[in-house]
Amino acid sequence: MSEQAAPVQTRLDGEVLVVTINNPPVNALGQAVRAGLLAAVEQLEQTAAARAMLVVGAGRAFIAGADIREFGKPPQAPALPDTINRMEASGKLVVAAIHGAALGGGLEVAMATHYRLALPGAKLGLPEVNLGLLPGAGGTQRSPRLMGALPAAELMLSGKHLSAKAALAAGLVDKLVDGDDPTAAGLAYARELLAAGTGPRRTSELPVPGDRNDALAALDKLAQDSAKKTRGLFSPAKIIECVRVAVQTPFAEGAKRERELFLECLNSPQRAGLVHAFFAERETAKIPEAKAAQPRHFAKLAIIGGGTMGAGITVSALDAGLSVVMIERDAESIARGRKNVEKVYDGLIAKGRMTPEAKTATMARYTPSTSYDDIKDVDMVIEAVFEDIEVKKAVFKELDRVCKSGAVLATNTSYLDIDAIAAVTSRPQDVIGLHFFSPANIMRLLEIVVPAKVAPDVVVTAFELAKRMKKVPVRAGVCDGFIGNRILSVYREAANHVLEDGASPYEIDAAVREFGYPMGPFQVSDLAGGDIGWATRKRKAATRDPKARYVEIADRIAERGWYGQKTGRGWYLYPEGARVGQQDPEVLAIVDAERQKKGITPRAFTHEEIMRRYMAAMVNEGARVLEEGIALRPLDIDVTFLFGYGFPRWRGGPMQWADMQGLDKVLADIEEFAKEDAQFWQPAALLKKLVAEGRNFASLNQR
Ligand code: 3HC
Ligand code: NAI
Repeated sequence: MSEQAAPVQTRLDGEVLVVTINNPPVNALGQAVRAGLLAAVEQLEQTAAARAMLVVGAGRAFIAGADIREFGKPPQAPALPDTINRMEASGKLVVAAIHGAALGGGLEVAMATHYRLALPGAKLGLPEVNLGLLPGAGGTQRSPRLMGALPAAELMLSGKHLSAKAALAAGLVDKLVDGDDPTAAGLAYARELLAAGTGPRRTSELPVPGDRNDALAALDKLAQDSAKKTRGLFSPAKIIECVRVAVQTPFAEGAKRERELFLECLNSPQRAGLVHAFFAERETAKIPEAKAAQPRHFAKLAIIGGGTMGAGITVSALDAGLSVVMIERDAESIARGRKNVEKVYDGLIAKGRMTPEAKTATMARYTPSTSYDDIKDVDMVIEAVFEDIEVKKAVFKELDRVCKSGAVLATNTSYLDIDAIAAVTSRPQDVIGLHFFSPANIMRLLEIVVPAKVAPDVVVTAFELAKRMKKVPVRAGVCDGFIGNRILSVYREAANHVLEDGASPYEIDAAVREFGYPMGPFQVSDLAGGDIGWATRKRKAATRDPKARYVEIADRIAERGWYGQKTGRGWYLYPEGARVGQQDPEVLAIVDAERQKKGITPRAFTHEEIMRRYMAAMVNEGARVLEEGIALRPLDIDVTFLFGYGFPRWRGGPMQWADMQGLDKVLADIEEFAKEDAQFWQPAALLKKLVAEGRNFASLNQR
């Protein structure tokens, strides 16, 4: 390996051995880096001329942590804790100069140096909790010694990054220096320390500051709060246990306990689910079109419709620095549209998260209008008018007439045929689907729906827009409901079957929450409005297979005008606008009456039985979506459900969940349920194929 390509490079600069971690893109601590760092420490000790060592990162980061790709594989020496301890134990001075990310194992390296300097833009944190882990290279033991027990525990539980300034205030770093050259700043600092005769100061030898009993009491309280907030997560309680040990025992003992608990986390299914989610979230932006096309330029957008979605999309666009012309039907509607946008910013001002001046500056990029003539020069249009194909077609004809050539024309439709919408224009190559989720300024998922005739550079432009808006994009094909809503409609139907067969809506919601969702499907329906699903069912009634099982209970509820929270009752009762619903005996009576009408004798379901059906329906339809090429890879389905439907992140997504169960088990469930209803439970051909070949969904994720 050439000197340039070595992942850890060393050079003697006067009396300082400069150790540069050079493992693009973010200097993760893979095996070669650990070995290189260990060799550098040995070099320091064997080089008489070297009185100090400076650790810096090349490129955009200090060190972003352990190499996440190595988790789940056999460990390779040297281990990170051993490497770090060896460095800290050195009799010569060790200094870190931090720029960019010093996260996880990266911050653990820094905390084991004797003095730490940070440059502006440095981001320090111990985000292992987001991967189902705890800091496993002394981080749980060193951070309390530098920051205090409670702040350290809070940092590790939140997974948050601290700025250089905040890290200085917290005691994680000793000094801040302006500039953008960590090596120059670090060399100056190391020389300053040497000149002052400063020797090693080992974090592991420092006491945890503060009173021990106070610290333990604060940790008990934190443990209670955290158990409520991190429901279902495994590693937070282990993190707190490690900090407790740090308060009570010497470093070596604490480090031993940390190692044991780290390995428990590492081997947990939650770690596998969360690491899958980490990479999947970054993979969805890798699409075939990106190889051949460049995004079109865009700075000025038109948003057609200022209702729920139009206003939310407008806020996302303004926040991304874009200009927006909003078009509505008439003066009254546009006034309402503007209000919908301002309401979001006023809410932020009320919470102290925005200044009135910032709102004024942002709103200066917003133009309300009722005339299509005002959008002649926009680079991109996002239509969010009523979900009615005729209304949409009329809007697109108008867009075709007024928009400049090359403008991207997008629709936010939830279900409608985008090929048919594109066909009313003279430029189907410019028409694409941008399916935002409600509330559009908050939800991060963006389904980018690719119709048959769209040009590759329009697809790439849509992904660029997602990036600018900090959304998580997923590429989807055209079908009723695209990836998310299509799969949703099937497992929602499975829940209806279970309801009609004997489980109450409250039992089903409880089972789904227990699985890890924040809400169950009936609660979601009450939140979104039962009228929306009802309208969809009516729209689909004409094309519904008369032989397919159809559960009418939801229609009985909607017919009464019980749409959920907004009407004060739905599946639940919401007295006085309460947001948490109460169980409603009248709903149970309606459910019973419907069962009797069909001659169904209700039977009991355990939560596990409910979830087996719910998940089998989700995975089976997911497999069909893959078969048809609606989703590129299983991971695209996972990301859709993680970011759009509240699927518990620690389970990785439905397809990852299926892999972890074993696809043979999921298929066996489907085949068992098919004995009751062979029409609904038809196993997807892809699922059968994968089981026959002994493969899993992950094998389709490989690029
Ligand atoms: N290991 C392996 N690959 C990593 C990585 C890591 N720790 N961190 C980032 N990458 C990869 C990403 O997958 C991505 O790869 P790709 O280009 O092939 O998709 C590439 O580096 C760039 O990452 P981002 O796209 O996320 O770049 P950003 O600039 O947006 O963000 C970052 C940079 C803030 C460093 C972000 O990547 C991040 O948060 N990384 C994870 C940090 C982390 O969780 N560290 C703790 C690891 S666990 C640990 O250290 C255990 C220890 O206690 C023993
Ligand atoms: P909405 O009813 O809140 O808003 C629609 C707006 O469009 C209204 O303000 C109306 O005045 C305006 N409008 C109607 N015809 C128009 C025309 N010809 N020109 C200009 N403006 C016109 O509806 P919502 O919920 O915002 O939905 C809009 C679209 O977004 C629909 O296609 C819907 O399926 C889709 N969508 C909705 C989601 C939701 O949760 N509400 C989620 C994702 C997509």
